[in-house]
Amino acid sequence: MHFSTITALLSAASLATSTPITRRAATVDELVGYAAGTTGGGSGSGTTVSSCSELTAAAKNGGVIKVKGNLKGCGIVKLVSNTSVLGVGSDAGIEEGGFKIRKIENVIVRNLKFTKSPEGMDLIDIDAATNVWIDHNDFSNVGITGDKDFYDGLLDAKHGADSLTFSWNKFHDHWKASLIGHSDSNASEDKGKLRVTYHHNHWTNVNSRLPSIRFGTAHIYSSCYEDNGVSGINSRMGAQVLVEASDFKGTKRAIVTDLDSKEEGFAVEKDNLFDGASKPEITQQGSLEVPYKYTIDAAEGICAIVKKSAGVGVVTF
Ligand SMILES: *[C@@H]1O[C@H](CO)[C@@H](O)[C@H](O)[C@H]1NC(C)=O
Ligand SMILES: *[C@@H]1O[C@H](CO)[C@@H](O)[C@H](O)[C@H]1NC(C)=O
Repeated sequence: MHFSTITALLSAASLATSTPITRRAATVDELVGYAAGTTGGGSGSGTTVSSCSELTAAAKNGGVIKVKGNLKGCGIVKLVSNTSVLGVGSDAGIEEGGFKIRKIENVIVRNLKFTKSPEGMDLIDIDAATNVWIDHNDFSNVGITGDKDFYDGLLDAKHGADSLTFSWNKFHDHWKASLIGHSDSNASEDKGKLRVTYHHNHWTNVNSRLPSIRFGTAHIYSSCYEDNGVSGINSRMGAQVLVEASDFKGTKRAIVTDLDSKEEGFAVEKDNLFDGASKPEITQQGSLEVPYKYTIDAAEGICAIVKKSAGVGVVTF
């Protein structure tokens, strides 16, 4: 039996007794999707860092880097190929800093709370890099307030970045969450690249870009969207987006293909839930079929699942 069938049966059974559904079919500690095969710094015990200077030094060598505590004011730290940055316990974080993942490959970032990027910068910026897995993190700035562009994105990818999986993260309290493809003029670099899987993420109180994608391919499933006032998933410049088994509450223009680029995007939506304030506005039906196996959790109950099992302190190191 296909996994999604099993989940559908479980959901139906739970609905019948009207108990909240929190049963999860997907594994919480597994790399699935376009970044499959990413190994980061491997399985060694690595280096534990508890200050910005230790982090910056360790980042130059790569391998496994374990972050202990909340490191404040590190600025943007450049990572190298074959690196895993892993938060220790449930209170590791990067505040007033962020990571640049540029022109490298094979990077993993897990279990870290990111907040307040340096002015005009992203918390995580993936630029011309491949095989990146961003899992079980918490991304926020200070809310939908102040200068829209003071902080840039929470998690952005551009310049032909490829083979990315962003799973079990919480994105909240900011203007712009996740931008895939930075410019309508970048077809030459971005077409055929920018393939991203987003699953089991929680998006709340964000203005827009949940994500926004140009040219590339995004598979978004089993995710929870709550109270996002302006727009949700924005497919543009011929991007192909497949959105399934997600719950959209209070998210205006929940899936939109003609928002603000010179060319529209494509989307397929299936098995999603939309409340009265959340509507898909799909002008071009897409055709995305993904080449990998994955396990769906149904839209009914997905918000309870990701609130409990996404973010930090779930998979710990
Ligand atoms: C990353 O690791 C792979 C496999 O061990 C190796 O072939 C490659 O050269 C490494 N890349 C860098 C930049 O160290
Ligand atoms: C798009 O990509 C090309 C390289 O293919 C680069 O030279 C150009 O500056 C990029 N355009 C923008 C607007 O970033």
